Amino acid sequence: MTRRVLEYRPLIPSAVFDYLRDVFDSGCLAGTCGRFVKLFEDSLARFLGVRYVVACSSGTSALHTCLRSIGVSYRDVVLVPGFTFVATASSVLHAGAVPIFVDIDVENLDIDASDLEYMLKRLKDSSHVKAVTVVHIGGVPARLSEIMNICERYNVELVEDCAQALGAEYNGRKVGTFGKASAFSFYPTKTITTGEGGAVATSDENVHNIARMFINHGEDRRYHYVMLGYNYRMSEINAAIGLAQLERIESYIESRVVFAEKFIKEVSEVLGDLVRFQRPPPGSRPCWNLIEMILNLEKLRISRDRLVQELRGEGLKMISVAYPEPLNMSPLFQNIENLLPYEINIERDLLYRKLKNCTYVCSRVITLLVPPGLTEDDAYAAAEIFINVIRRFCSSL
Ligand SMILES: Cc1ncc(COP(=O)(O)O)c(C=O)c1O
Repeated sequence: MTRRVLEYRPLIPSAVFDYLRDVFDSGCLAGTCGRFVKLFEDSLARFLGVRYVVACSSGTSALHTCLRSIGVSYRDVVLVPGFTFVATASSVLHAGAVPIFVDIDVENLDIDASDLEYMLKRLKDSSHVKAVTVVHIGGVPARLSEIMNICERYNVELVEDCAQALGAEYNGRKVGTFGKASAFSFYPTKTITTGEGGAVATSDENVHNIARMFINHGEDRRYHYVMLGYNYRMSEINAAIGLAQLERIESYIESRVVFAEKFIKEVSEVLGDLVRFQRPPPGSRPCWNLIEMILNLEKLRISRDRLVQELRGEGLKMISVAYPEPLNMSPLFQNIENLLPYEINIERDLLYRKLKNCTYVCSRVITLLVPPGLTEDDAYAAAEIFINVIRRFCSSL
């Protein structure tokens, strides 16, 4: 019998090639032409249920744009979770502000509400906390009601990092519609891909106007610059690739949901407490870009990194580790005082925190990337490989 190999591949519909021909025939490839970019933005705004979308060159540039557009600047503080991709926090530095890290909840893997409140209390008198960025890890919504309630009480803005969560829902609304501004990524492992790309979503007219200028050199009309901006535009080529997928986005989400639900059910039934899955909050509908699993290492006779190698060797190539280290422990953030052009007047125990839950999760997590377009059979095949490999290293099964 031939061995199944399951690997991550984006799903590119044939309409992409027609749209690309159209772009090339038009001779107009840059984002400044705005034809496919505009179609992509309008279609994404409709899908999300927001008034405005600004297409960007990446999720990272979208996050930077979100922060600057809501007014984050020098000496502000932005609170971010310690379990996330670097851009959630590096975008704060790009905006000239100080990222301060908050611990996560071990069940949901989102920002921990009680630690968030503790940090807001501690920082209240010494710093200006301008915003909190929540991350919907893996496409599983963060517990937005609790977090929004805290943000309101402390008068801080909410930014949503929806890089991994396009299409996920919370209380019947798409994530990305709760914050003052939200960032999406279209990197190939995301719900849909433009190769590289991102977007800002907002329903605030002022935020939209600033974002639009910010991604376009700070221009308010041709060759007239009113603020420091960047070239963060998405090109027509990327937008054409994205639009063709956006027109079919429900099937991209649905196939991932089917795959994830089957995989989680199969693995949980057989492996019990050897592997724990992320727990979506009540009233949410995750879009499962990733399946995060927390290993019960005490019961396994193998290290996490060896296990990843074994799983890949057996054909489960979609396995990786996201993320192996709390973000605040990277040398980048350990050097934070040398990165900003002003003195940071924040107590050192807040600037350099040890995040207990992040440390625990990072040492035990393994991640299954979920590509679009897989079937129930693929889920059973993936679960079978996963279960069989774990069985080899667990005496109690
Ligand atoms: C949570 C999170 N934020 C931000 C980003 C940045 O997106 P991009 O890679 O498109 O810059 C990513 C992408 O990997 C991400 O996973």
